[in-house]
Amino acid sequence: ARPVGPGRYEVTQRAAEAEILPGLRTPIWGYAGTFPGPTFELRRGRPVTVAVRNELPVPTSTHLHGGVNPPDADGYPTDLVVPAGYSAHHHGHPETHHQGVKEYRYPVDQPAATLWYHDHRMDHTAPQVWRGLAGLALVRDDEEDALPLPRGERELPLLICDRSFAADGSFRYPDHAAGGHFGGDHMEGVEGDVVLVNGAPWPVAEVTATRHRLRLVNASNARRYLLRLAPGGTPFVQIGSDAGLLAAPVAHAEIPLAPGERQDVLVDFSAYRVGTAVTLVNALGEGSAGNVMRFVVARRAADDSAVPKALSRRAMRPADVGPAVATRRFDFRRGETAWTINGEPYRPGVPLARPRLGTAEVWRFTSDFHHPVHLHLAHFLVLARNGRPPAATDGGWKDTVDVRPYEVVDVLARFAGHRGRYMLHCHNLEHEDMAMMADFDVV
Ligand code: C2O
Ligand code: CU
Ligand code: CU
Repeated sequence: ARPVGPGRYEVTQRAAEAEILPGLRTPIWGYAGTFPGPTFELRRGRPVTVAVRNELPVPTSTHLHGGVNPPDADGYPTDLVVPAGYSAHHHGHPETHHQGVKEYRYPVDQPAATLWYHDHRMDHTAPQVWRGLAGLALVRDDEEDALPLPRGERELPLLICDRSFAADGSFRYPDHAAGGHFGGDHMEGVEGDVVLVNGAPWPVAEVTATRHRLRLVNASNARRYLLRLAPGGTPFVQIGSDAGLLAAPVAHAEIPLAPGERQDVLVDFSAYRVGTAVTLVNALGEGSAGNVMRFVVARRAADDSAVPKALSRRAMRPADVGPAVATRRFDFRRGETAWTINGEPYRPGVPLARPRLGTAEVWRFTSDFHHPVHLHLAHFLVLARNGRPPAATDGGWKDTVDVRPYEVVDVLARFAGHRGRYMLHCHNLEHEDMAMMADFDVV
């Protein structure tokens, strides 16, 4: 992203080519013509305006995932930036059109966190993200700066997504996987057989034998990961979740990551001998999808980082949030012709809930399938899975929770920051495009 003034960026979405597989050219659609798009470094308390110019042949809508933003900057699926000369064919729902460019104003009034942005166009999110319309946005703040966390080269944001390729190097996306045939071969959404990290297949990172911070982001359309280190011998020390730092670090042997989720972890490579190649493994993946990337421990080095005993002072326990003023249920289920929430395929402008600004509510998610459930605007704490305490990796403020088949997941969501129209949806992007989405209005 090209900064053009204090707090202002201009980013052009355009078609370009990338060398992802050696010697082959992959046509992409990218923010600033790159895949992934540029990483935005944001600072709490410093609002930014991002002018997104659309030079693609299709409309787009940009959503900052995890962002606490006013509704007109949230990337509502029918709030479209249409390219010059594009003649709109309506789908029968009201659309807002910005000709060529839209300015998204982000207040950046939220704690340090790993956010990401991606296209959110009605009915077309999955294929447009697959072609490359996604990137990272890191929010930093004073509280995080005061912690002795690894930084600079020892902080590695890792945007993980899978793709399939045709023999000529182009991305292969099945016809009609989203928006066309419902169900069929693509019930589970579209998975690729090559895992990419920051747009590169099976990359190698040379690391010193010191602590590193890995900001793990699952930007895949549909693939879920269970990440492990091989050889093991040192844990992932989780310091943050989707929406920011935890109260205190928690060690995990493995990290599940559903589409849309983030995990912020420390890995201490001094546990390995110099020369060791450490693989980040996906225990859920078969064949080439079973490996994500490698770290080669190149040499010893001084380490002034530490694992802080306490991380963030934000309210972290349900008791700190205050009593829930309402309980609502959202049932994610396969319908006759679409994926549905409470029996309804998505209808823009028809909110399923009207929570009040400044309150907290318990939202209960149930499903007949795997659905990573995501809320815009509102961050939440996972209270329970099937009436029992949530998984250790569910801790902290989140915006996406993986709801497993026949599971009942209770979350305590806080509606803060802005009034207006937001959405909840399945973050399996093919399910989202097949209508598993709903509006809620913060009133
Ligand atoms: Cu990352 Cu509404 O999505
Ligand atoms: Cu979002
Ligand atoms: Cu789903």
